[in-house]
Amino acid sequence: MDRIRIVGGNQLNGVIPISGAKNAALPLMIAALLTDETLILDNVPRLADVALLQRILGNHGVDIMSAGKRPGDHEYQGQTLHISAANIIDTTAPYELVSKMRASFWVIAPLIARCREAKVSLPGGCAIGTRPVDLLIMALDKLGAKLAIDAGYVVASAPDGLTGAGIDFPKVTVSGTHVAMMAASLARGTTVITNAAREPEIADVADCLNKMGARISGAGTSRIVIEGVKKLHGARHQVLPDRIETGTYAMAVAMTGGDVLLTGARPELLQAALDVLIEAGTTITPTNEGIRVARNGAGISPVDVATAPFPGFPTDLQAQLMALMTRAKGTSHLTETIFENRFMHVQELARFGARIQLDGETATIEGIDKLRGAPVMATDLRASVSLVIAALAAEGETMVNRVYHLDRGFERLEDKLSACGATIERISG
Ligand code: EPZ
Repeated sequence: MDRIRIVGGNQLNGVIPISGAKNAALPLMIAALLTDETLILDNVPRLADVALLQRILGNHGVDIMSAGKRPGDHEYQGQTLHISAANIIDTTAPYELVSKMRASFWVIAPLIARCREAKVSLPGGCAIGTRPVDLLIMALDKLGAKLAIDAGYVVASAPDGLTGAGIDFPKVTVSGTHVAMMAASLARGTTVITNAAREPEIADVADCLNKMGARISGAGTSRIVIEGVKKLHGARHQVLPDRIETGTYAMAVAMTGGDVLLTGARPELLQAALDVLIEAGTTITPTNEGIRVARNGAGISPVDVATAPFPGFPTDLQAQLMALMTRAKGTSHLTETIFENRFMHVQELARFGARIQLDGETATIEGIDKLRGAPVMATDLRASVSLVIAALAAEGETMVNRVYHLDRGFERLEDKLSACGATIERISG
């Protein structure tokens, strides 16, 4: 199993190219199931989760061709996937695959909408909380699907197709909104989703679906209206930049000090996080090429932040902000409101000497001057990268174990950081 070795203490200076967003690429790939024509996706990040979803879609009979680099392409440019679901040979998504990646449960939406049947394993437990799928099932039920749970599988059918409906989510849910939007695209009549998630990845998927012939308006707001169409067709779409990767590197620079240009990043995708970084003493400058992040001389100021659905501070940056606050000049409070139990990084950050106390959903972090490197590991992607951020500023050597979590969501992390002066290397085996 690969590990990452980091010797802390170097500032970060230079340029980091931001990849396409994992959390847009995954639903976009799943949306390809909605049509028998080819969907071409550009700027798809090269991540373990993308590769796994390719396998899962392959199981349904989807052909995916990934175009290689062309002469003149930048080495960090994402890949282009040509995805063809002309022949869906199997509408079952088995436990062995769905349990490896929760988002693959979302195939239930295009399968029921296009094939009128689906049998998809319940995703099961997850390191960051219980994460049920009741709201996804509620949305499909509203659209007229017949649903039953049998031996750990959701068995869904809609022999006469789906019918547009009002779907009012009692809680903001990204997964629920994706599923409702995809399924409603091929339903008869109009669907109105209220209290919809407003995450930029929802708007990106809606853009792509509209290019495929869907009639969706309001994506990116809390009210989405979908006029169902009979058929969708092929299209070409570029995945939007990854706001969580952007925020992660911005926090790494805030942690080490230095000056880095995050190319391709778009500030409007993470304004709440950038505002917090400014409050913490970082200089953020939007440029034509991306976002410039700098911290020179000034220390890190403490902040009080609660995670919230977009446009609030993202839960996917909570662990990284906590790592940063371990070295603030004063006491910070971070409250996690989206997922219970998304605090596994607390115990690992303590191994660097960090002083963190947990009380229910709130962590109190007392900043200290120096962290000390240590062997660490984490059980989810964002928690793992928070350990990398701590390690970059810690005295001495840190060994981050279980690197496969990082590989799920960060493309060429060690290359991007070492190009900016970090001492970081992957140790294979
Ligand atoms: C998406 O997960 C992201 N995953 C997560 O990113 C992200 O943390 C999360 O949204 C919140 O922003 C992808 O996009 C692939 P939700 P999702 O449905 O869609 C509860 C990462 O590190 N809920 O918005 O699964 C749920 O338990 C990941 O990249 C129900 O109760 O999140 C949670 O408390 C991790 N019933 C809340 O809603 C349901 O049926 C929000 O979940 C569905 C959700």
